[in-house]
Amino acid sequence: MPLRLFLMSACLCLRAGLAHADGEAEAGAQVFKKCGACHTASEPVNRVGPSLMGVVGRPVATFAGYGYSDAMKAFGADGKVWDENLLAEYLLSPKAVVTGTKMSFAGLKKPQDIENVIAYLKTTATK
Ligand code: HEC
Repeated sequence: MPLRLFLMSACLCLRAGLAHADGEAEAGAQVFKKCGACHTASEPVNRVGPSLMGVVGRPVATFAGYGYSDAMKAFGADGKVWDENLLAEYLLSPKAVVTGTKMSFAGLKKPQDIENVIAYLKTTATK
């Protein structure tokens, strides 16, 4: 293929890639509506569930002032941190990962939704 065409298509791919990275967090904000009945991620305020502001990278069951279940406290007792992998497992099936959790949410079925909601949660870290 002529060099000019090659450069053009490489450039298009790159731009699509960048747009995708933004789109994930945006799509994740939509997915987060499912969590919004019980959680906020835009304020450090506890509702039915703890605030999820800055939850990516936060140690399990440590948000100030929230009354976690014994199950969640035991799950975090060894110092586990909500990294992306642990969140992905948990959000697929909360009760399978933390037996006895009081988070009554069945889980997100689509891997894409899980990825997107984590991308969104990463944007909520306290500055
Ligand atoms: C029906 C209410 C409800 C819904 C809907 C819900 N959660 Fe929760 N969530 C809770 C409760 C209650 C807890 C505390 C669990 C415990 O202490 O056992 C919790 C805990 C968590 C934790 C652990 C936080 C910490 O500080 O250790 C994460 C992460 C979480 N939820 C993410 C989500 C996400 C993401 C969604 C949406 C996909 C969601 N939750 C939907 C009620 C809910």
